[in-house]
Amino acid sequence: MAESLTLRRPDDWHLHFRDGAIMRAVVPYTARQFARAIVMPNLSPPVTTSVLADAYHERILAAVPEVMEFTPLMTAYLTDETDADDMAAGFSDGVLTAAKLYPAGATTNSAQGVTDVANIMPVLERMAAIGMPLCVHGEVTSDDIDIFDREAVFIERVLAPLVEKLPELKVIFEHITTRQAVEFVESAGDRVGATITPQHLQINRNAILVGGIRPHMFCLPVAKREEHRLALRKAATSGSAKYFLGTDSAPHPRHAKESSCGCAGIFNAPHALESYVSVFEEEGALDKFEAFASENGPRFYGLPLNEGTITLEKVDVEVADEIDCGGETIVPFHAGETMRWRLPDAG
Ligand code: NCD
Ligand code: ZN
Repeated sequence: MAESLTLRRPDDWHLHFRDGAIMRAVVPYTARQFARAIVMPNLSPPVTTSVLADAYHERILAAVPEVMEFTPLMTAYLTDETDADDMAAGFSDGVLTAAKLYPAGATTNSAQGVTDVANIMPVLERMAAIGMPLCVHGEVTSDDIDIFDREAVFIERVLAPLVEKLPELKVIFEHITTRQAVEFVESAGDRVGATITPQHLQINRNAILVGGIRPHMFCLPVAKREEHRLALRKAATSGSAKYFLGTDSAPHPRHAKESSCGCAGIFNAPHALESYVSVFEEEGALDKFEAFASENGPRFYGLPLNEGTITLEKVDVEVADEIDCGGETIVPFHAGETMRWRLPDAG
C-alpha cells in the first residue's frame, strides 16, 4: 500500500471564487478538498454589504455538487463608506465571518477599497468590540514604493500602528510573502495570525522572470527573493498556531494572464493540498501539517474544528496543462507537472 497521510478535514482560509460560469466551474475543485473556505469579496462590483454577501453565499451554495459537503464563509469588502451597523448585524446573523481590508488599488478589483485606514476606524473599533475578524491585504500602494517592498512598508506604516491602536482586533495578515511579515506575526500578540499560500512556499521571484516572463506565476503580493520563501517555509512548518492554510486561489482566464498587462492571481484550487503537503514533506514536518491545514485556522477564527478526515496518498498525479472553466481556459498552478501526493476522490 502507498504511504498515506490522514488528517482532519482541512479548510481554506482565503480564496477567490469569482461569479457566474467561472464560479460554478471552480467551486467543485475547492469543495472536493476543503470543508469550508473564506471567500473573498472582490467581485466586480464588490461584495460590500451583508445583503450582497448573503446573495453571493446562495450562488456559491448552488454551485456545490450534491455529493460534496462544503460551507462558504463570507466576507464583506470594506470601503471608506462601510456601515459599522451592517457589519455587526451581518456578523451576528452568521452571514459574515469577517471583513476584508483592501488598500485601494492594491490588487485585482480593489479600486473601491479603503483609501486610508483612518476612514474606517469606527468600523474597526466595532469589529474589535464584537470579535469580528479583519482580513488584511497587506501592501501599500504608493507609486514611490517598490513593488517588492510593499508588504514590508505596509507593516511599518499601517499594520503595526493599527494593531497597537486596537489590540483586541483579530487580524489575519493574509498571504504573507516576506521575512518581515513572519517577524511581525511572531512579535505580535495572539490576536494576529497569518495565512500562507502554496505558491509562496514553492516559488521565489525567479519563477516569474527567469527565461522569460511567466504570467501564470504572477500573483499579488508578488513572490519575493529566496530568503523570504525560506522564512515562510520555516514559519508554516514550525507548528506555531499563528499560521494557517489560505490558498489565495485566484482564477483568471488564460487570455487575461497572457496579455500585455496580465492579471495577478494563481489558480491553485485543483491541487492545493498536494502542493502544501509536498512542502511539509520536504521540510520533514508532515507531523505539523494537520495543525496548519485543519486546526490553527478554526481556532483563530473561534469556529469548531471539522468532523471527519481525508487521506492523502503518496501516489504520482499529473496536473493538467489547462482546465476548461465555464467556457474559459484557465492554467492551474503546477500545470504539466507531476505531483507526488494525491487526494483520491471520496467514496
Ligand atoms: C487576487 C485576485 O485575482 O482576485 N489576485 C492575486 O494575485 N492574489 C487578489 C488578491 O488576493 O490580491
Ligand atoms: Zn486573494
